Amino acid sequence: MLQSTRRIKSCNIKYWDMCALDFNKKTASMHTLTQDQINKLPLTPAHTVLEIGAGTGRITIPIAKKVKHVTAVEPSLRMLAFLKANAERSQVKNITCINKPWENINTDEVSPHDFVIASFSFFMIDLAPALLKMHILANEKVYLFLSASNWMEEEIQKILFGNAQPEVFPDHVYIYNILNELGITANVEVWTYLSEQRYADLSEVTSRFMELYDVPADKKEHLKEYLLKILVPDEGGLWLKQQKKVAMLWWSKEE
Ligand SMILES: C[S@@+](CC[C@H](N)C(=O)[O-])C[C@H]1O[C@@H](n2cnc3c(N)ncnc32)[C@H](O)[C@@H]1O
Repeated sequence: MLQSTRRIKSCNIKYWDMCALDFNKKTASMHTLTQDQINKLPLTPAHTVLEIGAGTGRITIPIAKKVKHVTAVEPSLRMLAFLKANAERSQVKNITCINKPWENINTDEVSPHDFVIASFSFFMIDLAPALLKMHILANEKVYLFLSASNWMEEEIQKILFGNAQPEVFPDHVYIYNILNELGITANVEVWTYLSEQRYADLSEVTSRFMELYDVPADKKEHLKEYLLKILVPDEGGLWLKQQKKVAMLWWSKEE
């Protein structure tokens, strides 16, 4: 999944340290998605939750407000610093943080929790053991949130690869199949939300896309032309508004 979409750099913790400031700013504009995710989880004040790759606490904090306790696993110290500051600002005190990559956690160092949740945090090279560990450490259910959109818009694929486009599936398809190979048949729900991002100018959004999709310098002008077509100027900035799909994969330990 990560190899085919040129996202191997995202497996390095330094990458997430570097993204933390921007990611924390961006989470405010992800309010609708956050609310959708929380509404899908059957959380009660009796539940304990283990969250993998908690980031800046975008869903960790609203989850913590509804349950007894959350253990948040997050390898990036900078992400974790935002999570702690955000939790303090929200007066949330029932989150324990573990500063490690999920792969480095042994099943005997974390006790099983009622729910194990991972949201857009599948940046492990070897996904099968990572998913199996989530299954082992869940008392009741595992909930995974992933992109169900194509990783790149068709136009960007054309700019990068012309007609020789690689066959790439949305993230949830890879994870569903790995789970299937592990003997887990996950339930799947896919829905659409409007992703809205504001950028200061064309140079900012171009740099962001160059970095995200690993675009070679000689394709920069093509990329700019495409971006100019889809960006909407407003309030002195540029808005990127896209309909995106998200998937929730979940299963019960008893099934
Ligand atoms: C796109 S952010 C998502 C953050 C949060 N879950 C959310 O939905 O807002 C991905 C997060 O996964 C974390 N991550 C990356 N590699 C990881 C690993 N090996 N184990 C656990 N978390 C990881 C990153 O540090 C980052 O905070």
